[in-house]
Amino acid sequence: MRRNARLVFMGCLTVGFLFCTPKKGPEMIVEKEPFGKTPQGDIIELYTLTNSQRVQVKIMNYGGIVVSIRVPDRHGTLGDVVLGFDQLDGYMEEHPYFGAIIGRYANRIAKGAFSLKGVDYTLARNNGENHLHGGIRGFDKVVWEAEEVRNDDGVGVRLTYTSRNGEEGYPGTLKATVTYLLTPDNELRIAYSATTDKATVVNMTNHSYFNLRGRGDILRHELMITAHHFTPVDAGLIPTGELRPVKGTPFDFTQPVAIGDRIDGDDQQLVFGLGYDHNWVLKDAGTLSLAATAHEPETGRVLEVWTTEPGLQFYSGNFLDGSITGKGGWVYQKRHGFSLEAQHYPDSPNKPDFPSVVLEPGETYTQTTVYKFLTR
Ligand code: GLA
Repeated sequence: MRRNARLVFMGCLTVGFLFCTPKKGPEMIVEKEPFGKTPQGDIIELYTLTNSQRVQVKIMNYGGIVVSIRVPDRHGTLGDVVLGFDQLDGYMEEHPYFGAIIGRYANRIAKGAFSLKGVDYTLARNNGENHLHGGIRGFDKVVWEAEEVRNDDGVGVRLTYTSRNGEEGYPGTLKATVTYLLTPDNELRIAYSATTDKATVVNMTNHSYFNLRGRGDILRHELMITAHHFTPVDAGLIPTGELRPVKGTPFDFTQPVAIGDRIDGDDQQLVFGLGYDHNWVLKDAGTLSLAATAHEPETGRVLEVWTTEPGLQFYSGNFLDGSITGKGGWVYQKRHGFSLEAQHYPDSPNKPDFPSVVLEPGETYTQTTVYKFLTR
């Protein structure tokens, strides 16, 4: 009897051990499936990353686009928190960079022109007289080489793309790599790197549009940005060069404030941006630091943005106007999504006082940004 009891006890210990031991590898999954074909005949693959908490991220090799991010709310109900389309077709039409990798240069370069080492370069002008988000066919519209990644930190996909010398007007052959990794802690880590064979400018980011409620507008999301300054812009959204203190302005997000609280004020910067569409000057450039937190009170979902970058573009989806129907028939109206784009400041190639975006042969451009999902 005693012996049996001991056996049962040992058995329970073993079973307990099996159940309690954190199972790392097997529960982190990366799967690949065909997502469709581009009009040019390129076969596009969709990668699904799943972690042990059932968080699921879908990424495709067209534009390196994050197609969906499913995370739990405070009751554990999973929901998709990014804007986009159910099918590849939607992404083949004109759309405002939903989920995409942006490059070579995220945001605007005034008049699509800059000079580097005494040479004048002219870029594609695709935003009035300015260059925006890498030009007419930026990194958001190219097909990337993709391979699955599995390592101690999580599962993911590594994307590579070689941008030829002169593409969209930029000098140098640029070899770019973007690795997306989903961790067991509900982080989507994005590591960018690039090398060149001739001096050039680089500034990459991701242009996901978040809505942590998963429907309607984003005005009740409470936003915090760890920045004491922002870069005011002119009417064409080109920075004036000034670093303006946020204190006492609608740009002060040092304490959490609902996005909608001050967005329609008569501050001239809000008028120029049609709301928020500005770059905040982050405090801790160079080290991976907390840049922003967004909290959606109804669902309890929280997004933290960590980055090594010196700037963060907070764009409140002001140009969404109901002309695009996205996932599940959702008509994307003004301010139905917001972006937090970790980046160098806009127009840095023409602003010698801004942190440099020049990449020389022999150097490696790197940037890391983490989107971390929690509930509160
Ligand atoms: C960025 C820009 C905005 C707008 C969007 C895309 O966030 O700063 O002005 O171009 O991309 O619509």
